[in-house]
Amino acid sequence: MPDQTLTITDNRTGKAYTVPLYKDAVRALDLRQIKTGPEDFGLLSYDPAFLNTAACQSAVTFLDGERGILRHRGYPIEQLAAQCSFLEVAYLLLNGELPDAAQLGQWTRDVTHHTMIHENLKKFMEGFHHDAHPMSMLMSTVAALSTFYPDARNVHDPEVRKLQITRLIGKMPTLTAYAYRHSLGLPYVYPDNDLGYTNNFMNMLWRRTEPKFSANPVLARALEVLFILHADHEQNCSTSAMRAVGSSFADPFATTAAAIAALSGPLHGGANEEVLRMLDEIGSKDRVPAYIAQIKAGHGKLMGFGHRVYKNYDPRARIIKQVAEEVFEVTGRNPKLDIALELERIALEDDFFIKRKLYPNVDFYSGIIYQAMGFTPDVFTVLFAIPRTAGWLAQWQEMLQDPEQKIARPRQIYTGQPVREVVRIAERRTQPACR
Ligand code: ACO
Repeated sequence: MPDQTLTITDNRTGKAYTVPLYKDAVRALDLRQIKTGPEDFGLLSYDPAFLNTAACQSAVTFLDGERGILRHRGYPIEQLAAQCSFLEVAYLLLNGELPDAAQLGQWTRDVTHHTMIHENLKKFMEGFHHDAHPMSMLMSTVAALSTFYPDARNVHDPEVRKLQITRLIGKMPTLTAYAYRHSLGLPYVYPDNDLGYTNNFMNMLWRRTEPKFSANPVLARALEVLFILHADHEQNCSTSAMRAVGSSFADPFATTAAAIAALSGPLHGGANEEVLRMLDEIGSKDRVPAYIAQIKAGHGKLMGFGHRVYKNYDPRARIIKQVAEEVFEVTGRNPKLDIALELERIALEDDFFIKRKLYPNVDFYSGIIYQAMGFTPDVFTVLFAIPRTAGWLAQWQEMLQDPEQKIARPRQIYTGQPVREVVRIAERRTQPACR
């Protein structure tokens, strides 16, 4: 008998059941034995939007939302952001340990080797309309990578997996930069393998006619820190999409495209773009109270506020605020910062937000920094997708190696019609459409 158990009494039958507890959780399948009779399927757990259901065991990221703690493989996010490069953190997520100097050198060479994309993919991108959203372009081109690398289908071979992971991490900045330049009508810039990950990305984004691009070191470090802060966040919507799609053994390009799709929504990664739109709509500091009153009256949400897990300050938002100051020393202060600070000040004092434990999340300040650095709001979410690819792939790899995982296939509680006969079309009466 396990040490810890739970006794459940079924008041329909009066029967008591003892179920084991595993790491303070009940295995939902243990509820199936609770039945009213032999015909009964057994008890299900019902948890729309997974508010209280662990779908996996994971050793990648620890998050304590009540205390505002985020750690990757045991390392606090504050230390990783202060002391590491993005590629070190990506290595850590994927391999479980920080690399030593030789490992980092090899990893950097491997990723750099894979920054180029096939010329046909460039042509594929040229087919997009001039105003195509960069996130939609990224999603489509990442999915298209599986047509170039059919070997990726062999998801059970660790060497094949490693190659696709390196390819994806190497190519994400290139695809993103091409999508960005496509939307501006600028020619694509090839990767420069002399440059580091973020410097090379900035080169592909912003090089014009100069023979060699050199990024401002403060801005390059700020982007590096932003990448680290976005690298993983345990079982959020896009990571859950990655795991669910990957559980069917779809190749990693198709799977990552699904995660990008999930990230694009305004309630998830798309929120950073929405924050900027909201700040534009507010327009000035003095209009903040009226805007908050409108939110409290039920008209919309304060974008960049609230989180499913953090019920205390998002630790990433705290670091981002600091990065913002450093960036503004170089770029000049983004006037939207004053509106954002006022919005935060008023919201944090307001009972409506306090009661609901709504604090700024990672997206509240990231957009203001990105805008000051010269990005347009429609690329903010692709800037999120580049580093998150490391987290998605770490979780995907973990899922594939977990002997407990099977194809993701939730149950449902059917609420539709009971069985009925099809009536011939001439005899049917018009019915109101179902939702
Ligand atoms: N502004 C105003 N009210 C809010 C907000 C907000 N940003 N977020 C939640 N609430 C309210 C809800 O209306 C609800 O109120 P009620 O109890 O009166 O019905 C209460 O707070 C609880 O909110 P839920 O929607 O139940 O919280 P949930 O965990 O489902 O949602 C989410 C989390 C999606 C992040 C939500 O807070 C939100 O929509 N925020 C704005 C979008 C955003 O910033 N998303 C980025 C999240 S971070 C990321 O994905 C990288």
